[in-house]
Amino acid sequence: MFLAHRRLCSLGSRTELLKTIYSSEILGFSTSAKMSLKLKNAKRIEGLDSNVWIEFTKLAADPSVVNLGQGLPDISPPAYVKEELSKISAIDSLNQYTRGFGHPPLVKALSCLYGKLYQNEINPNKEILVTVGAYGSLFNAIQGLIDEGDEVIIMVPFYDCYEPMVRMAGATPVFIPLRSKPVEGKTWSSSDWTFDPQELASKFNSKTKAIILNTPHNPLGKVYTKEELQVIADLCIKYNTLCISDEVYEWLVYTGNKHLKIATFPGMWERTITIGSAGKTFSVTGWKLGWSIGPHHLIKHLQTVQQNSVYTCATPLQEALARAFWIDINRMGDPECYFNSLPKELEVKRDRIVRLLESVGLKPIVPDGGYFIIADVSSLDADLSDMKNNEPYDYKFVKWMTKNKKLSAIPVSAFCNSETKLQFEKFVRFCFIKAEVMEDFMEVLEVAVLTMMAVARIASMVEDTTEDLD
Ligand SMILES: Cc1ncc(COP(=O)(O)O)c(C=O)c1O
Repeated sequence: MFLAHRRLCSLGSRTELLKTIYSSEILGFSTSAKMSLKLKNAKRIEGLDSNVWIEFTKLAADPSVVNLGQGLPDISPPAYVKEELSKISAIDSLNQYTRGFGHPPLVKALSCLYGKLYQNEINPNKEILVTVGAYGSLFNAIQGLIDEGDEVIIMVPFYDCYEPMVRMAGATPVFIPLRSKPVEGKTWSSSDWTFDPQELASKFNSKTKAIILNTPHNPLGKVYTKEELQVIADLCIKYNTLCISDEVYEWLVYTGNKHLKIATFPGMWERTITIGSAGKTFSVTGWKLGWSIGPHHLIKHLQTVQQNSVYTCATPLQEALARAFWIDINRMGDPECYFNSLPKELEVKRDRIVRLLESVGLKPIVPDGGYFIIADVSSLDADLSDMKNNEPYDYKFVKWMTKNKKLSAIPVSAFCNSETKLQFEKFVRFCFIKAEVMEDFMEVLEVAVLTMMAVARIASMVEDTTEDLD
């Protein structure tokens, strides 16, 4: 070993050293071609390397940029949630590993809360799995239940990780778009967006293993109605299909709407995994805790993935989350309960951002739930000639706006498969779970939009004048 080390050290340059290591018999490589094959990515991640969050979060990192892109609440999480966490570090046992499938006090709190919502008992140990965020639940569900050759139905637009996760499992995503047209003089609402039941039925077949549902929806803010969910449930039952229901915004539903859980529809419990998120429930996205709820015959497969990947989630965070839940479980009917007060607070912010976007001539899609709003920005006619050409319009627009107007958002075509990107590339998504930033945002957007409109007006005046001269 020592001699080998001496031999390597005497080789000189790093490149020489690497060549020697990789061509050495010790590692079994004889040619550089073999070496490059060995260093290649696994096939299952091929083509999945781009990620909208990494790209646009980097762009928005400049402190002078007002970041309305990623869904980071910059309102303060509830004081009692933070206090509970700060008390826990002093308790030695809570600084150690806990049960892999979920810290006992947390699964107990979740089973009590969701038992009330489902009006059915939920076994804390067999029917709940605590995961690394809702992302962890999605990953465990897809890895644990979806196989090579399966088809998985995804409605477009969709939370961007669904497609790569399905592909990583070796399955084929089958897309169906949500559609709507704005009606002149009428507020454009997320409830105007829906799927065609016949088109959806045409996507189901014997290979369909699952459908991924997301209600309230990111990025549209759509809250699926009872009738829509019934159509989905009927098809799931008819084709014996699973439903992975991503309900991370379950508490963020605005006046006149009600969040319904598809797992509570007749015949659906036994085929549904419902996913929640502490980050979205208590405005603590950095905690990265989530959970899956479903029948034991499904949850046990998610548990297998978890025990062979992350194994367990952070104990102090789970304990603090359990304590926070108990505080709110015990006052569920009260206006101060966070499940009631947060949507009230956000509805005011939603209405303000709607007014602002409308006041500068944009047509937002008013969300019924969640904390995002999307708007068609094509009427602004921004001059994007400096931007890279091989990208969808909304990517160029957001990059231009971030660089020139110091305002960032997320392009909606990032939530689409390649065939539907064109359909959504005129939209950008703004996040409105913001405190003072909303004030800055109002000013920045107003100035940005007015400048753009002025530029567009000047450009068209110049064009008219040129035409006149012609
Ligand atoms: C629809 C949807 N699902 C899942 C997630 C991931 O949630 P978590 O941060 O708990 O992993 C998000 C986060 O924005 C989301 O919007």
